[in-house]
Amino acid sequence: MRIFFLLGCIAFSFSFVLTSCNCKTHDGQITEAIIAEETIPDAMSVIFSRKSVRQYTEEKISNDQLELLVKAGMAAPTARNLQPWTFLIITEEVLLKEMADMLPFGKMLSQAAAAIIVCGDLSKVDVSGPEYWVQDCSAATQNILLATEALGLGGVWIGAYPSMERANSLKTFYNLPEHIMPLSVISLGYPKGEHVPKDKWDANKVFWNKWE
Ligand SMILES: Cc1cc2nc3c(=O)[nH]c(=O)nc-3n(C[C@H](O)[C@H](O)[C@H](O)COP(=O)(O)O)c2cc1C
Repeated sequence: MRIFFLLGCIAFSFSFVLTSCNCKTHDGQITEAIIAEETIPDAMSVIFSRKSVRQYTEEKISNDQLELLVKAGMAAPTARNLQPWTFLIITEEVLLKEMADMLPFGKMLSQAAAAIIVCGDLSKVDVSGPEYWVQDCSAATQNILLATEALGLGGVWIGAYPSMERANSLKTFYNLPEHIMPLSVISLGYPKGEHVPKDKWDANKVFWNKWE
């Protein structure tokens, strides 16, 4: 009986030391420390290793992988569960090159293996929250980028809406219906060269319980 009590005390002290270390250390090392813990799901390492990748090899991405990426997009949170999104998957080289010419900051599309255009379906928009579709489609875009990282692929978010110039050129080019609004284009491929995630951790941007 005594031995169980003793073991319990040791386990409790050990977990307390670990927890207090994590709470009090407000620097970049906290990320590595958390990832190093076996009990933390692999999702954390995916989140912290995601980065924009703009150079790709010539390797193709399979349709299964592309569909999985879109599935990840559709798993995103969405206001009132309206799911006001549609996804246009582009795999044809000629279309990717046309988009590279069309989008001022989308030149990497000319090298990409594929792209996913995340669009808002404005026919599903609710009058009580007319702009929530932007947040829903942004969450979907981020989910796709995280899934991209998890599969060992590289991707980058290319902004369309709210630039009406970019959104309208995509709408015209793909002959999209009036209620379909492109929010982002995700350029995709197998990464070429080394890409290191930026460390954006900044303790000065975090407040606890009160603004000071
Ligand atoms: C709304 C939005 C629009 C973006 N548009 C572009 C773009 O048009 N072209 C581009 O190369 N990167 C674009 N990016 C990617 C950012 O440049 C990139 O996320 C940022 O530099 C941080 O780098 P990281 O993704 O590697 O962490 C965009 C990102 C967001 C969230």
